[in-house]
Amino acid sequence: MTGKRILLIVGGGIAAYKACDLVRTLRHAGATVTCVLTDGGARFVTAMTLAALSEQPVHTSLWDLDEAEMGHIQLSRQADLIVVVPATADLLARMAAGLADDLATTLLLATDKPVLVAPAMNVRMWLHPATRRNIATLRTDGIIVLDPDDGAMACGEYGPGRLPAVDAIAAALAGHFTIAQPLAGRHLLVTAGPTHEPIDPVRYIANRSSGKQGFAIAAALADRGARVTLVAGPVALPTPPGVDRIDVETARDMAAAVDAALPADAAILVAAVADWHVAPLTQKIKKTRDGTPALVLQENPDILATLANGPRRPRLLVGFAAETEDVISHATAKRARKGCDWIIANDVSGDVMGGDRNHIHLISAHGIESWDPMSKTAVAERLADHIVEALA
Ligand code: CTP
Repeated sequence: MTGKRILLIVGGGIAAYKACDLVRTLRHAGATVTCVLTDGGARFVTAMTLAALSEQPVHTSLWDLDEAEMGHIQLSRQADLIVVVPATADLLARMAAGLADDLATTLLLATDKPVLVAPAMNVRMWLHPATRRNIATLRTDGIIVLDPDDGAMACGEYGPGRLPAVDAIAAALAGHFTIAQPLAGRHLLVTAGPTHEPIDPVRYIANRSSGKQGFAIAAALADRGARVTLVAGPVALPTPPGVDRIDVETARDMAAAVDAALPADAAILVAAVADWHVAPLTQKIKKTRDGTPALVLQENPDILATLANGPRRPRLLVGFAAETEDVISHATAKRARKGCDWIIANDVSGDVMGGDRNHIHLISAHGIESWDPMSKTAVAERLADHIVEALA
């Protein structure tokens, strides 16, 4: 679980003390654990205990977080997986009903990450038709529900309802990450961001690419177990966990870094590469002395076309096409011209460059697949799933 970020929600049951042990087990396995303690959970264990074991701040209230920055959304976004231990009958019922009346349930409703719950409650509560109904609803909603253990309970009764052993919960979490790693053993190459083409020591030609879409794709591929090399133009984005990042400035640097990173099973070229560069001057151009300078543009190497026609062509080659008009016809022509397998046509006629959403059409030999406008993260997840299928 090295590098995995787990958000642990500690519910209000006697088994809460075992959540403390789980924090240690997960940390030993290499994960970073952030804890959210419900009001009920705080009756059994303290925030201090969880903070000391996790070495992370513990979150207890919706109102603690800086909601101006959408704190609860951030908390769920930063996690790879959310786990609820112990998941009490009440917490499961509130999840099944879609309530959001405290930090834990708000996070659980707001998240698009996998959620695993480890129930623990009295045997009669577990077997009650209301709980059975709630468990069925949660499973239909895609929540991973671990079965509780059978045995003697703290309340003196016997039967199913005991929290599964800490090692079993940790194994279920590790198993989740392993199953979701269909790209293990593959090397994937991603380019992202703009390039900067220097004019003189202080000026350059650039474009509005933020790098967000390429970084999200690199993250989604790494999450699926690939070894990912991300060749990034000048952007101030954090490197996604598990990704090897090579920072470059110009198109020619990017071409060299891509070449050095080969061979790759697939390459996804998302970068908005400058088409031209100028022969840069070594001294700053002076306004007074030199008059209005004429910039003589020279063509940059086409990284995508070079890869497509080269001896080390990746098995799957994906290009992006940011277009402002006739999106599909321009992108279809671009696919043929560049010789790549897929073109991801991106409608940038609105306020898209630098934004958080994209409107995508995937153009391949099989035709055109148009996706609803969605977040760049969602585009990355969907594209990564297509890449998994293509490389299977
Ligand atoms: N690309 C590249 N090297 C270049 C230019 C573009 O690898 N020198 C890649 C981009 O990363 C993208 C695809 O080619 O995957 C299409 O980029 P785009 O800028 O839309 O293509 P151009 O050939 O520059 O077409 P246009 O005339 O629309 O600018």
